[in-house]
Amino acid sequence: MKKRFWTGLNKESNVFGFGCWQIAGNHSQNGIPNGWGNVDKNQAIDLLCHAMENGINFYDTAQGYNFGQSERLLGEAIKQAKKEVIVCTKVALTEKEISQKKIGENFKTRVSQSLENLNTSYIDIILIHNPPDDLNWKEFNYDILKELIEAKIIGTYGVSSKGLKGAINAIENNVGTTLEWIFNIFERRPIKDLFPIIYAKKLNFIARSPLSRGLINPLYINSNPIFDSNDFRSTLQEEWISWVITSLRTYNNNGISEADLIKNALLFCSYFNEVNATIVGIKTIKQLEHYLEISKSVESLFDMGKLLNTPDFYPKWA
Ligand SMILES: NC(=O)c1ccc[n+]([C@@H]2O[C@H](COP(=O)([O-])OP(=O)(O)OC[C@H]3O[C@@H](n4cnc5c(N)ncnc54)[C@H](OP(=O)(O)O)[C@@H]3O)[C@@H](O)[C@H]2O)c1
Repeated sequence: MKKRFWTGLNKESNVFGFGCWQIAGNHSQNGIPNGWGNVDKNQAIDLLCHAMENGINFYDTAQGYNFGQSERLLGEAIKQAKKEVIVCTKVALTEKEISQKKIGENFKTRVSQSLENLNTSYIDIILIHNPPDDLNWKEFNYDILKELIEAKIIGTYGVSSKGLKGAINAIENNVGTTLEWIFNIFERRPIKDLFPIIYAKKLNFIARSPLSRGLINPLYINSNPIFDSNDFRSTLQEEWISWVITSLRTYNNNGISEADLIKNALLFCSYFNEVNATIVGIKTIKQLEHYLEISKSVESLFDMGKLLNTPDFYPKWA
């Protein structure tokens, strides 16, 4: 597997990482489903252990994934597998912090909660989870994050942003070392709008939604997705879903076989040196085995030409 170096941590990981939202299990936020369906707790731990034992050593989670459940499962798997891994988790700002333009002392208590969930005394990366895209970082006081680094409670920090504008805002204003945003074959704007800054400032980039919420799937070449009411994807805009499916079918018609769709989509993400980790959300052992097989492929197998006539972003998100 190809290794990537993490600024601020002085560590390396494999570019093929693991997104832990999918294993969090059913939950909702303000009455809206926020999980990916039911997951057996022991199966999730076994899945994570199997990933760790097979060389996947970067894990992305968040406090918001079922009220710490994703962090607890990850912490238990790290304990059982006894492997050195890099962990990134996310903590959201409160309304008060946003209006007062300052991360409060209470943030430390929230970080302590993640430490407890993960069963550790140190977290590699803390990201501010989905702050407002237009937050004025120049006036916003986030000294607490620097204090946490000095106290060796965290290794480094950054932002996981909602929109592209928020991603540019965070990195232009030097908010830590790490940015997490969407990057996949049908959301290619990071190449032009983020990577030059990331490269120049030697920042870390975590590519989320590499399979476009699981819609990049050969299953949808000949059928349309239907999601259970407890799967958060049942709340996604139908128009966006059909745009992804149309793009996927175009890609398939360009000569990418159904069997190679996922492999090519993931090799696209890892092809760029600015990407430290691509964090596929994996729910089943079958998906993990497939992922492990892909992770052994060489990046040069990706054929950019086959993206011809496919859109590089969803126009309504411009
Ligand atoms: N704002 C944020 O900070 C934020 C937002 C979103 C995601 N994330 C992070 O990014 C991670 C991944 O992004 P994402 O949640 O958008 O999902 P994604 O990785 O784009 O898609 C995940 C889905 O892909 C499908 N899949 C995975 N491996 C597969 C395989 N080998 N074959 C066929 N299908 C496969 C599964 O779909 P099925 O369930 O349909 O089988 C899975 O649920 C999350 O786990 C989370 O850590 C962060």
